[in-house]
Amino acid sequence: MQNFVFHNPTKILFGKGTIPAIGPETVAFATKVLLVYGTGSIKRNGIYQQVTDSLLKAGAEIVEHPGVQSNPVLSHVREGIALAKGQKCRVVCAIGGGSVIDEAKAICAGAVVDHDVWKFFIGKKSVTSPLPLTTVLTLAASSSEMNSGMVITNEETRQKFGFANKKLYPQTSILDPEATFTVPADYTAYGAVDAIAHVLEFYFTTQDPATPVQDRFMEGLIINAMESCDRVLADLNGYQGRADLMWTATLALNGLTAAGLGKVGFPMHLIEHSLSALYNVPHGAGLSAIIPGWMRHQSQSTPQRFARFAERVFDFRNGSPEERAQKGIDALEEWFQKIHSPTSLADLNIPKQDIQQIAENTVALAKIWRIPDYDSERIQAILAGC
Ligand code: NZQ
Ligand code: ZN
Repeated sequence: MQNFVFHNPTKILFGKGTIPAIGPETVAFATKVLLVYGTGSIKRNGIYQQVTDSLLKAGAEIVEHPGVQSNPVLSHVREGIALAKGQKCRVVCAIGGGSVIDEAKAICAGAVVDHDVWKFFIGKKSVTSPLPLTTVLTLAASSSEMNSGMVITNEETRQKFGFANKKLYPQTSILDPEATFTVPADYTAYGAVDAIAHVLEFYFTTQDPATPVQDRFMEGLIINAMESCDRVLADLNGYQGRADLMWTATLALNGLTAAGLGKVGFPMHLIEHSLSALYNVPHGAGLSAIIPGWMRHQSQSTPQRFARFAERVFDFRNGSPEERAQKGIDALEEWFQKIHSPTSLADLNIPKQDIQQIAENTVALAKIWRIPDYDSERIQAILAGC
């Protein structure tokens, strides 16, 4: 196990009936609130009403910034920043999934500076004193509710870039599993894929051979993500399944899994971001199209680790490490197919001829993330296997 610092300052309020706490939790920072949300689901399922009732009761003055789209875009972030500055909002409250929370973080960071917000994403500026952020999570997937990352698409340059800064953790996040009852089956599945991908990235890129605590923790999260997703897809309004999936997704990328692993990478996300940037596919759908191909590529150099994944997650104990590795990857791919998440570029209607263009888009982000071993040739080879 490597040395590490773990410091996650986000306060979590988890469970049934927790949404009415959003008012007091938010006005504890300021009363002029920028309320950020998506394209309509919270109005249909009543969460908007619950949140605004609570905010108003707590004495908040609300300025609304609706219309965040899935895979949030820079132009809309800029509109939110202009609104927050113009209306002198001093706290931001996000209600939604990863897209809404990520856009809210970008607004928090951009509303207190004079330069353009994109400079954070291309490494030209660092976040200083962002506005405080509270969230009500409505979709289990990204863990943005309890981490310091944000991912935004620049529609002009067709770049989807992610960026993290320790000042961007939400102050408080409310996780009421009932808020996710209305998430349709497809996005429920994509959310589970995303949570699994977050774990796999670190599980397969750590260079440390002796991390038993983290390994068991990560294997448990993967098994829980699959089992709870299966239960939710069988009963979209099942509280226990929704609760298990929600907390699993939050734990998958809140810093705990990586603690002690040393340097880890995020290569599947690196490539997926280009799929979202170029074709606007849902993040989890893009991931499940990349994961099996990336795993087959990577397992050639570290078959033992993939064999252990197969043994611990799928109980495959027989055969050589290479055979077990292969069986584990096949089993995960079959599970993706079972939950109707795409498992190839073809499933996403992305033609083979586009592989070079995707790779070039990915290389630009690899440079910013400082992952030099992902050059165009290697990315094209991985994509060819997808
Ligand atoms: O627009 P609304 O009405 O909010 O509808 C959304 C959207 O259409 C809908 N939805 C959300 N909650 C719902 C609901 N529909 C019915 N009932 C509910 N309770 O679901 C759709 C997808 O929402 P979105 O927020 O886009 O999904 P997700 O949470 O998967 O977020 C995806 C974004 O997060 C980024 C991704 O790149 C992507 O842009 N990520 C952020 C990360 C982070 N900050 O750490 C890490 C992740 O790896 C990921 O990259
Ligand atoms: Zn992700």
